Amino acid sequence: MADVRTAHTADLDAATLTTARLLLDDVFAGEMSDDDWEHALGGIHALAWEGDELIGHASVVQRRLLHGGRALRTGYVEGVGVRADRRRRGVGGALMDALERVLRAAYELGALGATDDAVRLYTAHGWKRWEGPTSALTPEGIVRTVDADGAVYVLPLSTPLELTGALVCDWRDGDVW
Ligand SMILES: CC(C)(COP(=O)(O)OP(=O)(O)OC[C@H]1O[C@@H](n2cnc3c(N)ncnc32)[C@H](O)[C@@H]1OP(=O)(O)O)[C@@H](O)C(=O)NCCC(=O)NCCS
Repeated sequence: MADVRTAHTADLDAATLTTARLLLDDVFAGEMSDDDWEHALGGIHALAWEGDELIGHASVVQRRLLHGGRALRTGYVEGVGVRADRRRRGVGGALMDALERVLRAAYELGALGATDDAVRLYTAHGWKRWEGPTSALTPEGIVRTVDADGAVYVLPLSTPLELTGALVCDWRDGDVW
């Protein structure tokens, strides 16, 4: 079984970060943009190692999500990927376990934008599909993000959530969710 370790971006050396980026480039078949990678930085990474080979990555960064009249301190999960030849062995689950420990200890809720491939993994870990309308707080104001509707999942923690209510994410370059 892989050895899963967590570290803040600040404590990973440049070579490890490059290796993680290359792993995700491979996992997402070249669809991982510079913005996508940048979104995965500045928080806690979970790295799955087999000896000195990196076979899995996930990270959690802080964002603010507006819901129920509050700006919730949210741990937003990014860059979840396991090398294709190491899938269905529990590595993805172990990465999520490591990040969920961080989420439970530090945030009011967890959130992420899911690919179809990963929905079963997240729901098995207690993540819930956001049923209500999603939007982003853009420089021009709040704008609906219809494409993200149904693809956002949350891990309810200390804050009561109305899953059919409105959910608004903070602004960033690239994909906002
Ligand atoms: C989504 C992803 C990260 C899952 O990683 P993984 O290492 O395969 O995850 P796990 O092994 O923990 O769980 C996956 C499945 O394997 C099963 N599994 C876990 N250990 C197993 C084992 N020892 N033997 C057989 N099956 C096992 C799990 O029960 C789960 O089954 P399910 O999908 O039927 O519910 C991986 O498929 C991936 O990198 N996909 C491409 C990138 C992507 O879509 N990332 C998500 C972005 S939101």
